[in-house]
Amino acid sequence: MATSEQLKSLIKAHIDCEDENFKTVVLQIVAYEAKLGHTVLAREIKTLLDKFSFNNKILQLTNQNPMLELRKSDIRFNELIVSEEVHKRIYRILEEFFNSKKLHDYGLKNRRKILLEGAPGTGKTMTAFVIAHELHLPLFVVQMDRLVTKFLGETSAKLREVFDSINSLTAVYLFDEFDAIGSNRGMDNEVGEIRRVLNSFLQFLEQDRSNSIIIAATNNKRVLDQALFRRFDDVLHYSLPSANDAEKLLTMKLVFFAKDFVPSKALIERAIKLSHAEIVNICDDAIKRLILEEHEITEEELVALVDERLYIYSAQEAY
Ligand SMILES: Nc1ncnc2c1ncn2[C@@H]1O[C@H](COP(=O)(O)OP(=O)(O)OP(=O)(O)O)[C@@H](O)[C@H]1O
Ligand SMILES: [Mg+2]
Repeated sequence: MATSEQLKSLIKAHIDCEDENFKTVVLQIVAYEAKLGHTVLAREIKTLLDKFSFNNKILQLTNQNPMLELRKSDIRFNELIVSEEVHKRIYRILEEFFNSKKLHDYGLKNRRKILLEGAPGTGKTMTAFVIAHELHLPLFVVQMDRLVTKFLGETSAKLREVFDSINSLTAVYLFDEFDAIGSNRGMDNEVGEIRRVLNSFLQFLEQDRSNSIIIAATNNKRVLDQALFRRFDDVLHYSLPSANDAEKLLTMKLVFFAKDFVPSKALIERAIKLSHAEIVNICDDAIKRLILEEHEITEEELVALVDERLYIYSAQEAY
């Protein structure tokens, strides 16, 4: 057992948030226990300490860099309903990451600079969460708004900090709503700064030799120029759901609430005019009614909910 002095020092270091002292005392305890022949205990404590160091590293990074937000992800690949093409490409990213060492031995690199492009609500942000979860990596979302507004004038320096983090801690880094800096470099922006930031981003991206996965997502393809596309290892295109996708999504979302529910052709035909996110919202609306009004989920109700949304859009377009 650790001595009373060691225990007191340990508690003091914890209360004072003295990470280095805390680690030193733990290592002293490890050495002490090992000397007493308690090798299993010593090893267990050492393993715990290793975990502590890892978590701590993440916290320090996020504390130091206000542009990185650490997000938790538990979304599995099979929850993401995408075209066969996108599915294959995501699978390839995962497979190459898991085999990166093997590839490296042959002088090859795994795909890890990825651009996701396509309609709103089709699963781009969700894909970053899926990749992080499947690779067992932390996910950091780069706070684009802070990058271009709050730190305007020092944005390149801030970008460098982000890429330093990318280099020092292997994780998935998502540059979401990428349009914020991805505007066409030929266009005359109100703020010349945006163009400078984009150039810096391209340079940093090109120079990056880390093991991290860098994902940029946008729903505005037109504002992205060729130079940008070239810098990525892969570009994934997201579109509104196919009939098959809409059917899968409706069934997956409602399976626990509407037993034996099979979406009709009429429902699917309407649903494909909406994004995945909107179909999920419709299912949630129907589930809410089921819970609050004890009203069974019916085909007619779902059709009405889809029509309601389509009607709002047609009214907006007319306006
Ligand atoms: N392909 C999909 N499969 C399953 N669920 C989806 C899919 N796309 C969207 N969703 C649902 O909609 C929500 C929002 O989707 P997400 O944020 O990934 O869209 P996005 O493509 O990033 O949109 P935006 O371009 O507006 O940022 C998800 O959290 C999920 O519940
Ligand atoms: Mg998104």
